[in-house]
Amino acid sequence: MEHGRSGAARTAGTVVELDAAFFADPYALYARLRAEDPVARGRTPVGLPVWLVTRYDDARAALNDPRLAKDAAGFARVLERHPLPAERRTVFAQELSRHMLSSDPPDHTRLRKLVSRAFTMRAIAGMRPRIEAIATELADRMAAGPPEVDLLDAFAFPLPMSVICDLLGVPDAERGTFRRWSNTLLSSDGDAAARTAAGAAMAQYLTALVAEKRARPADDMLSAIVAASADADQLSADETVAMAFLLLVAGHETTVNLIGNGVLALLRRPDRLAELRADPELVPRAVEEFLRFDGPVNLATFRHTTEDVEIGGVPIPAGEVVLVALASADHDPDHYPSAEDLDLHRDASGHLAFGFGLHHCLGAPLARLEGEVAFRTLLARFPDLALAVEPDQLSWRASILMRGLTRLPVRLRDTA
Ligand code: HEM
Repeated sequence: MEHGRSGAARTAGTVVELDAAFFADPYALYARLRAEDPVARGRTPVGLPVWLVTRYDDARAALNDPRLAKDAAGFARVLERHPLPAERRTVFAQELSRHMLSSDPPDHTRLRKLVSRAFTMRAIAGMRPRIEAIATELADRMAAGPPEVDLLDAFAFPLPMSVICDLLGVPDAERGTFRRWSNTLLSSDGDAAARTAAGAAMAQYLTALVAEKRARPADDMLSAIVAASADADQLSADETVAMAFLLLVAGHETTVNLIGNGVLALLRRPDRLAELRADPELVPRAVEEFLRFDGPVNLATFRHTTEDVEIGGVPIPAGEVVLVALASADHDPDHYPSAEDLDLHRDASGHLAFGFGLHHCLGAPLARLEGEVAFRTLLARFPDLALAVEPDQLSWRASILMRGLTRLPVRLRDTA
């Protein structure tokens, strides 16, 4: 175990490849790293060298450390130190990068303040009837359709997508296209050209949408954000498009997987499913456990070091990329006893599924409410819900950002 705490003892052989085997079962690798090499050297699928932080205490401290920065310009300089071949490099549209999650204070403070009031628990509570109406409509449609569906397509994706599009004022028509761009952008396979193209298409679409809101303001959040950009000191033109991008992508990509991963966890544990059916009041607590047990964000928390730091006793020089493995931290047995067990009664508070510190998820109250409504609706409407394939036939998206299934085929009712 000792060798893992010492940077000097590390050899090239210990570099962890974040490859297909990792996507298929990140938890096995995480368990090994937490025990043997908790601050490990790793390499992303495109070949970027990174440091992986896998223990709960180290992860939480790293997320709260101002020497681990997020700003896009600093990150670009770090990437220059580790040049990748052109075909592996994603060229991000400039207009998409200047958002709060790629900023440090004071820019971060200014950008977050502009929208934070809309995402307080109180503001979000007012959205419950609308979210319930959307969930009911989707459930009605499923009940009237074939007995087997892909739950991601039929429910887990359209629910958060409709909610965030309603909130922002994004028209219905483009939602499917947007999902494809977003999936491509967040994938971590070798296809950098596809990611670059998806980013460019999204930037073009969002720039046009912002122009439309400027010309014809409506009673929606995007119009309010565009109005704030009339004062360039508050919000520049690029920051406006980037804000729309972040809210739209963060607003649906993650919640899809809260629902998908949570449903899968329940369907694999009929005893837990029965407990929840017997006591629907347990749903909010169960949602916290779903977030801890198989959270939507794998390693999405990229940071870069602005100076030499030490994490968990391991020295990391300035100008390096650090990935904080949230899903690993939340399985740390030193923090959560029987961490590998789905326990709907446990107190999962303190989990890092929403991050921690300055960038703690702005949309957490919304995601929790969507999760609660989703599980209540599915449990009430589909008493015979079951997996339609064997668990080993399911596949996971190749993304170091998102932890989510490619499809979740379920049987909605007993046809026998
Ligand atoms: C940030 C997770 C839903 C908006 C984050 C971060 C995590 C996260 C881990 C921090 C990333 C980091 O520190 O690098 C999740 C999960 C969700 C979810 C697991 C669903 C279950 C949402 C929703 C929205 C949203 C519905 C709505 C718009 C944001 C924003 C940030 C953020 C704007 C950036 C905050 C900042 O930089 O200050 N989220 N998120 N998220 N999330 Fe979420």
